[in-house]
Amino acid sequence: MSIKFNLVSGDLLSLSADAGLFFVTEQEDIGQDFGDLAQAYLPKLAQLLLDQKFKGQRHKVLVLPCATGTNLKYLIFAGLGKADRKLTIEEYRRSVAKVVRTAAHYNINSLVGNLPDADLFGCDTAELIKQTVIIGLMADYSFDQFITGEKLVHELAYAIAGANFDKPELVQKYQAALDVGAKIGNAVNQTRNWVNLPSNKLAPHDLANFAAEIAKAKNLGCTIFGEPEVKQMGMGGLAGVSAGAAADCKFVILEYKTTAPNAPTVAFVGKGIMFDSGGLSIKPALNMEQMKDDMSGAAAVISAMGVLADLKPKINIIGLAPLAENLPSGTATKPGDIVTFYNGKTAEVKNTDAEGRLVLADALSYAVKHYKLDAIIDLATLTGACAYSLGPFFSGLFSEHEELTAQVFKAANKSGDFVWRLPLTDDYKVAVKAKVADLCNIGAKQYQAGATTAACFLQHFVGDVPWVHLDIAGTAFGVPDLPYYRSESGTGVGVRLLIELAMNWQ
Ligand code: BES
Ligand code: MN
Ligand code: ZN
Repeated sequence: MSIKFNLVSGDLLSLSADAGLFFVTEQEDIGQDFGDLAQAYLPKLAQLLLDQKFKGQRHKVLVLPCATGTNLKYLIFAGLGKADRKLTIEEYRRSVAKVVRTAAHYNINSLVGNLPDADLFGCDTAELIKQTVIIGLMADYSFDQFITGEKLVHELAYAIAGANFDKPELVQKYQAALDVGAKIGNAVNQTRNWVNLPSNKLAPHDLANFAAEIAKAKNLGCTIFGEPEVKQMGMGGLAGVSAGAAADCKFVILEYKTTAPNAPTVAFVGKGIMFDSGGLSIKPALNMEQMKDDMSGAAAVISAMGVLADLKPKINIIGLAPLAENLPSGTATKPGDIVTFYNGKTAEVKNTDAEGRLVLADALSYAVKHYKLDAIIDLATLTGACAYSLGPFFSGLFSEHEELTAQVFKAANKSGDFVWRLPLTDDYKVAVKAKVADLCNIGAKQYQAGATTAACFLQHFVGDVPWVHLDIAGTAFGVPDLPYYRSESGTGVGVRLLIELAMNWQ
């Protein structure tokens, strides 16, 4: 599949493409509004819309072949729902995604579409263009690189039309928004591809190499530590998780420096378990294959850094990704083993399947020690408990810092990577104390709340730095029903959020 966007000026009625696309708000007798269109392309339009019960209901997409005319072969109507309540940009995103999927279904290779009134969504036209492109690219993605037979090929040229798109100063601004959208959409899809690649196709060194390539192409600082260095530096968490695997672990650090003076420095940290078998505390076979997604946090951080190198936010950003495989073997970490982390703290590994917090402990400690940080955001497919409580539509947010939490919420709601807050309070913190070490890597049973106790564990490694932990266990893979995702596939969650956050840092 491949989708390309461009801007065109003029009236939809006079432009040429396979299809003309009309975003419409819901109203009775909607056919009345399309007299000119009916006259030019489909005399029975009003009656057909009535027959199909199409009033512009939200997420409804209707395709009608043209009866006359020379420019267009199809008319596509996309409903936005009633305008008498506040429409959210998410509803527009879903409509665009549905249109892109429908175009593929009808083998429509070019369309020209209007933009709905940006005021309906409380944003401006540039933002609407950016969102159209991001979500169009996301809707177009599929993971088919290992299918050797005949593939579904669908090419779509999507022209966004506006009456005033011939004014040079507007065109420049809108084209820039389109280009930014393409960068973000492609980065989300790159992340999804890394998530979808199984661990025999994407080992720690493979993802580290991709990170190095991005850094080289975009002039980011890049440091990659191998397993000997990780051990030598005293990263007992990362080394301990990797101990059972044949593949060496890696620790990737990417640095973006702004030219803005006195800028804050923010760290993005992503969990990078290329495959999580559970280790000696092995997982059940059912659905274990999905644990190829356990590097979704790292993949999101690395892709976001690549885009941010181009978009140049006015903050310094450090991206950190500990990469390892969690496998059982004669050399694997055993339940009861005690590991020592980079910051000197120790933990009893009661369950080798609670490995994410072990690799993050070292990465967070390293970030705090080597940079003067104003904030840390980490993303991790950390707990089944989080996936159980929130399901696939919200990532869990854990923090004791109200301003940073508010900022992340804002970026989440604007970007479409939605978050929901879960508790991180003193009462839970005792759950991760151990008898034989500073910490225990699983929460004591009576505290339950496994997503919260995991966050409590991580908190021991962030010092005093304002910190938000995002648990993406439920949102990184296999999100149902949304027209811009695919079932049994990675979502690229976090990429849009991190970019939005960095570009609008306060
Ligand atoms: N990677 C898993 C969490 C996970 C589960 C992600 C399901 C996506 C879907 C993590 O490493 C893990 O195994 N967590 C354990 C922790 C437990 C042993 C305390 C869990 O949630 O069961
Ligand atoms: Mn695990
Ligand atoms: Zn894991």
